Amino acid sequence: MASDKLKIIGKAILILIPYGLERLRQKLLAVQHRWSYEALPTAQNVVIIGGSFAGIELAKRLVETLPTGYRVILIEKNSHLNFSWVFPRFSVISGYEKKAFIPYDGIARSAPAGIFSRVQDTVTDITASQVNLASGEKIDYAYLAIATGSSQPLPAKVLSTDANEGSKELRTVQEHIQAANRVAVIGGGAMGIEIATDIKSFFPSTEVTVFHSRNQLLPSFGQKLHDFVLLAMETLGIKVVLEARPEILPGQKSLRLAGVVQEFDFIIPCTGQHPNSSILESLESGVISKMTKQILVKPTLQLQDPNGTLGHIFAVGDVANTGGPKMGRAGLFQSEVVVKNILAMIDQREPAATYKPKLFVEGAIKLTLGKTECVMYAQEEDGTEYLFNVHNGREDLGVERAWWQMGTKYKADT
Ligand SMILES: Cc1cc2nc3c(=O)[nH]c(=O)nc-3n(C[C@H](O)[C@H](O)[C@H](O)COP(=O)(O)OP(=O)(O)OC[C@H]3O[C@@H](n4cnc5c(N)ncnc54)[C@H](O)[C@@H]3O)c2cc1C
Ligand SMILES: NC(=O)c1ccc[n+]([C@@H]2O[C@H](COP(=O)([O-])OP(=O)(O)OC[C@H]3O[C@@H](n4cnc5c(N)ncnc54)[C@H](OP(=O)(O)O)[C@@H]3O)[C@@H](O)[C@H]2O)c1
Repeated sequence: MASDKLKIIGKAILILIPYGLERLRQKLLAVQHRWSYEALPTAQNVVIIGGSFAGIELAKRLVETLPTGYRVILIEKNSHLNFSWVFPRFSVISGYEKKAFIPYDGIARSAPAGIFSRVQDTVTDITASQVNLASGEKIDYAYLAIATGSSQPLPAKVLSTDANEGSKELRTVQEHIQAANRVAVIGGGAMGIEIATDIKSFFPSTEVTVFHSRNQLLPSFGQKLHDFVLLAMETLGIKVVLEARPEILPGQKSLRLAGVVQEFDFIIPCTGQHPNSSILESLESGVISKMTKQILVKPTLQLQDPNGTLGHIFAVGDVANTGGPKMGRAGLFQSEVVVKNILAMIDQREPAATYKPKLFVEGAIKLTLGKTECVMYAQEEDGTEYLFNVHNGREDLGVERAWWQMGTKYKADT
């Protein structure tokens, strides 16, 4: 494992140094852009739908690069960024839930005046030149990027669009978990494993059972991670039932498996994602994959529409069938492709930038395994796997760093 650690760190440095230098170059160019950009009342809109990991990154880069005559409008239904990476932990222990909802105010702090605005609303559908909102408002666009991600059952995602109500939803889950003697977690993906290990390590007397559909936990990663995680879960005292796809019965307290009903005090569904692609249905349902419901895109991340008329619309992040991992980091690399292609099209050039997933960096995972343990894992294209365990750090998982990355600072009364 020590050699795995050296390999992961060495490889990460080789990738991060050129990335860091490129970001520095971009920041310097952004200073120049700030002085030269002129806000015009006639500016055309580049609209982004969805203000999470992919949409925010795209917005940040577009406000550094769009020429005079264009501006960015970010449409997001939530009042705050829902920082879901800490939802498993903050659904188990109390007192931190407000930290999971980060204000949007800081994301374009150093952008030129007039280039950026955010609208809190829900997009219902789109036409080839307009976005329709639940409020009844319509917004024209010249270019559109869809970054609507996916929906998941609570506690991977909350239902409310308001931060205070979202915090309440997490508190309700905490109350159920903390009052329970027997908990079942359905689904052995990263979400299911993080919440199950947190419950068992913060509340050791609670009986925790994980039911997973396949014989490999975390099936989008490799066997080595499965072996490591299974051992860690069993060491904690979690019962893991593989190749089991139970049906959750109404009330979330009982499930049916192989005809037998089992009772629990609380059942937590961690059964995966449903892409939010329906806003495209009325414009062109042919760009929605029948199998995965993701939006079909070309390597340029333009829509792969059957008639070839929607090249001014892009899709990024978890909602798009990019071939990349469903991780926040993938959205970062995809956003850069979209920025380059929109700038090229504004400049009357062919959109030539293409997305090719960098599995080692985009698909790497830091997986918490309870209060103190955590595993770092990365995989090469040829299947070679590396992992090492690290200490988990702070109880709030150092979430304040994410606030800083969003251009703001955590204040207890925010
Ligand atoms: C519990 C958990 C922990 C994770 N931890 C990590 C991690 O440590 N590292 C990592 O790299 N990845 C992690 N991931 C994966 C990562 O969070 C996702 O890959 C990432 O959120 C995808 O970002 P996205 O912007 O594509 O979509 P999403 O994050 O799903 O965001 C989509 C956004 O669009 C908005 N939206 C949707 N529809 C509409 C509409 N019609 N109108 C207006 N707004 C709309 C939503 O409100 C949302 O804000 C984790 C995922 C989960 C669930
Ligand atoms: N620390 C991190 O970086 C982190 C943490 C959390 C999530 N994530 C990422 O976020 C994404 C979503 O993760 P997720 O764990 O929510 O979803 P996921 O990766 O899709 O895992 C859900 C798992 O549950 C299984 N499942 C579905 N229904 C089931 C049922 N009824 N009974 C038993 N098993 C069932 C699925 O298997 P089938 O395919 O067979 O249905 C799947 O393997 C992933 O890309 C993940 O890597 C990352």
